[in-house]
Amino acid sequence: MATRALRRDWRAGRLAFAFDTAMPDQPARAERPELLPPSKMPKRGKGQSLKGRIALFHALAHIEFVAIALALDMAGRFGAEMSPAFVGDFLDTAADEAMHFVLLDRRLRSLGSFYGDLPAHGGLWDSAIATRHDVAARLAIVPMVLEARALDVTPAMIGRLREAGDERSAGVLQRIFDDEIRHVRLGADHFLTVAEARGANPGALWKTLVNLHFSRQLTGPFNDSARRAAGLSPLFDAELV
Ligand SMILES: [Fe+2]
Ligand SMILES: [Fe+2]
Repeated sequence: MATRALRRDWRAGRLAFAFDTAMPDQPARAERPELLPPSKMPKRGKGQSLKGRIALFHALAHIEFVAIALALDMAGRFGAEMSPAFVGDFLDTAADEAMHFVLLDRRLRSLGSFYGDLPAHGGLWDSAIATRHDVAARLAIVPMVLEARALDVTPAMIGRLREAGDERSAGVLQRIFDDEIRHVRLGADHFLTVAEARGANPGALWKTLVNLHFSRQLTGPFNDSARRAAGLSPLFDAELV
């Protein structure tokens, strides 16, 4: 609600384009869920059994919860050096993520659980720390690697939920998927602007930043049509091989 109110206030012109407060290095969070190192996380099911679906939705709700903070941090940390349009885009994204979180938490509740009921992945803020010094690095990793990854894996999740007869959950993931295409596109567009301003080749710059700040391997299969719709192809996909 706070995130959506922030977006409304920005849209209505009630907020100044002023950044005189340092962003915190860690976003505020509630006591629960308990955060575990990735290696300690129970393996996420494929979502067919009730327990598996609860684990899946809990993991996704946590991703969305962190995504709210990532989008707000993007606007607050890099807004001053970028533009009001940049701030507006990422406050819109933050509000989308807040809605995604609510949709998933609602699904969890209808399945007899809630966000905070299970432990959650403690490493999701690592990329924010690794890229807090540079807007290009942040854009290269958060929207263009992490959110783009969601485009690759979500259609199969939707398919499995449909197979299990859970149309409601499939519908929620479909809505999130459609929004995430837009988020990746915004990230890629702003990345292109930054690369151009620095006189850098965008594909080469992206590859350098990913190699520097993202330790895991980028592995397929990639969802080529969604990546194309998000403006990632062919420039950046060509760099994946
Ligand atoms: Fe999201
Ligand atoms: Fe997103």
